[in-house]
Amino acid sequence: MNLILLGPPNAGKGTQAKKLYADYQIPQISTGDILRKAVREGTELGKVAGPLMASGAYVPDDIVIGIVEERLKEPDCGQGFVLDGFPRTIPQAEALERMLARLDKRLNGVVSLEVPHEKLVERGSGRRSCPADGTVYHVSQNPPKRAGYCDKCGTGLVQREDDTPEVIEKRLRKYDAETSPLKEFYAQRGLLKSIDGVGSPEGIYEELRKALGKA
Ligand code: AP5
Repeated sequence: MNLILLGPPNAGKGTQAKKLYADYQIPQISTGDILRKAVREGTELGKVAGPLMASGAYVPDDIVIGIVEERLKEPDCGQGFVLDGFPRTIPQAEALERMLARLDKRLNGVVSLEVPHEKLVERGSGRRSCPADGTVYHVSQNPPKRAGYCDKCGTGLVQREDDTPEVIEKRLRKYDAETSPLKEFYAQRGLLKSIDGVGSPEGIYEELRKALGKA
């Protein structure tokens, strides 16, 4: 199963991708997570990406395209993958088509999570994540058992630098202008399924499974 999860910032793409991994062991390829790791480690990539990400801008297409191509060549993608946060622009989507053809892979579907604007700001402002294992929480919607600490490994939770209301608004504008046209791009290819991204993460996951013909 080779999938793209599409949706605006804070729509719940990462939350749903982790559920797919738990059920089907298909790896989540999150360009955001890969870039944040590079920023934490202070690599050359991280030095370029960090300021762009903090301000809500996109990292240049050629950089993220290269990252995804390398990741898709890894053996764990042999049984499938879930792309989360890529592609984000039409040039990225076109590059993905060429890359998949080179790798003799094809997309099975693109699922778009539809969530209204005001909920996206609320979800992002309350998001906290574990810097050690990547588990994502929300202070009110999905709180950890002990406030501020990861349920799984006990590490102190952090708030992303780009999760301030101002930067979230900027990310949403960027999504509307540059990423939402991908829905039409994939609809034209007969790959797009849209699902309601409002409700419990478990209920949305059931809708996602139905959209993938897994229910
Ligand atoms: P990235 O990390 O991809 O950010 P994003 O697309 O803005 O998505 P998020 O990770 O913020 O949200 P999500 O949809 O995964 O939601 P989540 O499950 O966490 O990218 C960050 C930056 O990196 C970009 O701005 C850009 O600079 C750069 N970048 C990355 N990819 C790039 C690319 N391809 N090209 C160029 N630049 C790129 O959920 C959010 C919150 O809501 C959590 O607190 C969660 O617990 C909660 N929640 C989830 N589901 C529900 C629910 N059903 N009900 C209530 N709360 C919920």
